Amino acid sequence: MPTAGAVFEKKTVDDLNFSGRRALVRVDFNVPLDKSGAVTDDTRIRESLPTIRKILKDGGSAVLMSHLGRPKGKISEGLRLAPAARRLSDLIGKPVLALRDSIGPDIESAVSKLAPGAVALLENLRFHPEEEKNDPEFSHALAKLGSVYVNDAFGSAHRAHASTAGVAAHLKPRLAGYLMKKEIEYLGGVMSNPERPFVAVFGGAKVSSKLSALISLLSKVDRLLIGGAMAYTFVAAQGGAVGKSLCEVELFDEARKILDEAERRGVRIILPVDTRAVRSPDQPGTIAVVPTDRIPSDLEGVDVGPRTLQIFSEALADAKTVFWNGPLGIFETPAYAEGTFAFARTLAQCRAVKIVGGGDSVAAVHVAGVADRMDHVSTGGGASMEFIEGKVLPGIAVLDDRTAGN
Ligand code: 3PG
Repeated sequence: MPTAGAVFEKKTVDDLNFSGRRALVRVDFNVPLDKSGAVTDDTRIRESLPTIRKILKDGGSAVLMSHLGRPKGKISEGLRLAPAARRLSDLIGKPVLALRDSIGPDIESAVSKLAPGAVALLENLRFHPEEEKNDPEFSHALAKLGSVYVNDAFGSAHRAHASTAGVAAHLKPRLAGYLMKKEIEYLGGVMSNPERPFVAVFGGAKVSSKLSALISLLSKVDRLLIGGAMAYTFVAAQGGAVGKSLCEVELFDEARKILDEAERRGVRIILPVDTRAVRSPDQPGTIAVVPTDRIPSDLEGVDVGPRTLQIFSEALADAKTVFWNGPLGIFETPAYAEGTFAFARTLAQCRAVKIVGGGDSVAAVHVAGVADRMDHVSTGGGASMEFIEGKVLPGIAVLDDRTAGN
């Protein structure tokens, strides 16, 4: 593994032979579905395979559990997990029993009949309001479905829900899956011992959603590149004219504090010098390339410009570690995607350890066709941000420590 790795201090599935055991495994199968109900991106399902295969190969059985979407405690036909079960079945080449609920006597009876090597997937946990409330009785009811707990759902590890936190009180051992371990090793490595120069690249619409992560990274990085609409807040906070571009006026003070703090620490913050701008983002017409601090009042920035890409590329040239979170423009609209995709391709060629930290930038590296050139593409959006912020993630905290005698 590249040098961004951190020591993982939790017990993992490697610490147990699952022979004859029924493992209750929290996975994150919160995957996108199309209108016909088919899974359109199975990355999270694929990433759970090593853990599932290990359990089955040992001669254990696996009861998988996940949420899908935000059904708010009610059954929602479009958010059933059966499509994920079908996809998993294709990937592992054996049937996956798709259950119609996640707790209760029928479910207990069904999972008790699982033979060694068999897999079941519970129905969407969030059909029960108790899941998100981390309800003790619901946690207890889930715990009846297995004899050992495994959490491989890094993407949900920032949630203190029944399946990610409460259930662990009832089962032993409580082990991390391989995906959980890999995520923490890479993201933890960025935070603890990155090879230098360490460059972080932030994009996306709002500074507010990434403020804590930005502040946390300031003490670790050598350079910080900022793109996307969040850059306009920094430019405007310094007196630049950003036209109609998205801008969080209430964060000007915070933005200035970050710039001052960066200067004090000797961290170079690089903001876009040019911007692709349009009159109305909904109607891509003529795209003007204008200086980012002199955007005409009738124009809105939608992407970084060519000179900025050049400067960003130079800032990556000698990097040994790069962490990227957030697109550099409105990349969902093809006319405004050039900056994000060009940056993704440049990053792919860079010799650094390259970590893409969840959310939209993950979609961007996939669409740009360079995901396999990255060292690690996180499966966590909110979870990876909270981890970078230095927060304790409840879904990791409940797992057995490597030093514990249990
Ligand atoms: C995600 O997609 O980030 C995770 O599955 C968590 O989903 P949530 O934000 O609905 O808890």
